[in-house]
Amino acid sequence: MNLVTLHGSPNTDGLTASLARAAIEGAREVGAAAESFQLTEHEVSHCGQCADGWFKCREEGWCVIDDAFASVRGAIVDADAWVLVTPVYFGDLSEVTKAFTDRLRRCNVGAKGEGLAEKPVIGVAAAGGSGRGTATCLLMLDRLFGHIDAEVADLITVTRRSAAYKREAVRTAARAMMEALA
Ligand SMILES: Cc1cc2nc3c(=O)[nH]c(=O)nc-3n(C[C@H](O)[C@H](O)[C@H](O)COP(=O)(O)O)c2cc1C
Repeated sequence: MNLVTLHGSPNTDGLTASLARAAIEGAREVGAAAESFQLTEHEVSHCGQCADGWFKCREEGWCVIDDAFASVRGAIVDADAWVLVTPVYFGDLSEVTKAFTDRLRRCNVGAKGEGLAEKPVIGVAAAGGSGRGTATCLLMLDRLFGHIDAEVADLITVTRRSAAYKREAVRTAARAMMEALA
């Protein structure tokens, strides 16, 4: 079994990164392999709204922009399950998370494109500030997973005050998700 985690913070040792690590720990507890992507470390441009607004993403389920998007997407496609952790920025996904997921939903909307439909996923909205906007950010993850027909294993909110026990929740959720696949 193989888990991929994506996180969308520029910080390697912050709240968001710690939650991605917790998911990896949970997966490894049940013997799963785990691979992690810090999206800010990969070149992922925003969608170009090519042609009249749709292009190869609609017709063929792939993106013509030549950057790291395809390889990161490929890692999720090859995985048995995935975890997406975004910091809450302005009650929304962080910019790099948004750039990646905007293109992902175009390529995979309505179960077209390669292999993300029915794939189990956990979404985590990590609010390290006031905690305001956590629910709207989680809602965006829920909408994304709906557009790509993912199998939602869990949607988890985390704030500074809840971080200690929610980190455990993320670890347990990832562990359970991988256990269910074994
Ligand atoms: C541009 C920006 C907007 C943010 N907006 C929110 C917000 O709406 N709610 C919140 O609780 N925290 C907010 N934060 C704090 C982040 O959620 C995050 O916890 C913080 O940037 C530290 O991130 P990390 O430790 O997860 O890397 C914001 C941070 C940035 C940089």
